[in-house]
Amino acid sequence: QSNAMWGGRFAAGPDAIMEAINASVSFDKRLAAQDIAGSRAHAAMLAETGILSPTDAEAIRNGLCTVLSEIEAGDFAFSTALEDIHMNVEARLKDLIGEAAGRLHTARSRNDQVATDFRLWVRDQIDAAMSGLEALIRALLAQADAGADWVMPGFTHLQTAQPVTWGHHMMAYVEMFGRDMSRFADARVRMNECPLGAAALAGTSFPIDRHMTARALGFDRPAANSLDAVSDRDFALDFLSCASICAMHLSRLAEELVIWSSAQFRFVALSDRFSTGSSIMPQKKNPDAAELIRAKIGRIFGANVALMTVMKGLPLAYSKDMQEDKEQVFDAADTLMLALAAMEGMVRDMTANRPALEAAAASGFSTATDLADWLVRALNLPFREAHHVTGTLVALAEKRNCDLPDLRLEDMRAVHPGITAEVFGVLGVHNSVASRVSYGGTAPEQVRTQIGRWKERLG
Ligand code: ARG
Repeated sequence: QSNAMWGGRFAAGPDAIMEAINASVSFDKRLAAQDIAGSRAHAAMLAETGILSPTDAEAIRNGLCTVLSEIEAGDFAFSTALEDIHMNVEARLKDLIGEAAGRLHTARSRNDQVATDFRLWVRDQIDAAMSGLEALIRALLAQADAGADWVMPGFTHLQTAQPVTWGHHMMAYVEMFGRDMSRFADARVRMNECPLGAAALAGTSFPIDRHMTARALGFDRPAANSLDAVSDRDFALDFLSCASICAMHLSRLAEELVIWSSAQFRFVALSDRFSTGSSIMPQKKNPDAAELIRAKIGRIFGANVALMTVMKGLPLAYSKDMQEDKEQVFDAADTLMLALAAMEGMVRDMTANRPALEAAAASGFSTATDLADWLVRALNLPFREAHHVTGTLVALAEKRNCDLPDLRLEDMRAVHPGITAEVFGVLGVHNSVASRVSYGGTAPEQVRTQIGRWKERLG
């Protein structure tokens, strides 16, 4: 038989394949709570404006509460024949309260309904992402605080560049994740407008109050244009873009943890709670959580591209293509929350290996720049010449298989006669980091200032 919700002009029901391609309830049931909240706000507004009688409004309100508790308790029979969550809820409401249920859809369409539900869902995910980020930032801050003056090699091209502090490296990620938080906050402000009351696309002739429903659902205002309200999904794309950038940051940190926890680096020891073993090699302790974060972020990038592709070229207003928005966003959101939680756990539990960090910092001629700078300052050499002299000294040390501080003064003076014993003061890694006092630099005092600013910001 034809569909009870829209089958008036149909003589036959859908083919099984039609039903299979059309139905979305298997996934959009995740919008149940938002759908019912939206319906409750809509019904209250219809009563307030005199479109719905107080008796019907009361029956609808109570009925919707029952439906929600049935769904939450897990004893709700979702039906594919009823397509989506919206019609499943309405059909169950009709079972419970009878004909009054049919009045709920006055001045409303599934088009503004789904746009509203999905915005509410995405808004919750933005809030969840922001708290996940805050927890991760706090874990990084604790690491930075503990090792604000521990020296480690800083890299470019993954080759030893200049010594930095552990705290400085941790705080670099704090800045990145902090920008991710502010991106989510911006997206939230932009998306917080209510589509409800846009109806199918043109608005409605009923005397509704869109400001009332917007307020009831925590939106800042009703969306200004009914066509835009039902056909825009850029709020979801904003979420996916913010999520993608955040995921990219997570993946970079994950990659560093994989490298740092290797036997060749030993910069950090991951906790047992966030590592796994090998079924054949008894010695193994693998950084699987970091690897999975690194890999899983591909799903988030993929969702972003997939939804962009769904939306490109769609004429206004609603097209069924847009039903394909949800699974992508659901999966991306689940992946992001899991990755944030796993990263927070790993960072919180890991132990930085201070002796290994400091030993690595001193190798690889990491203070060559300090030496060149000293030649400029003490001997007034042009930087280019100082660079050349230092390069010659590095080559000499390399030939002797030693580090720069191990060279003898007379050997250095053979390269440049102006060099004095004072030079040894700048060749140590602690002196090197202590000297980088420029704003935002790696000197422990600068790092502590950065940490202090963030602690104040998070309260
Ligand atoms: N399940 C649909 C979606 O997710 C709801 C809106 C359907 N509207 C329509 N006119 N068929 O987009």
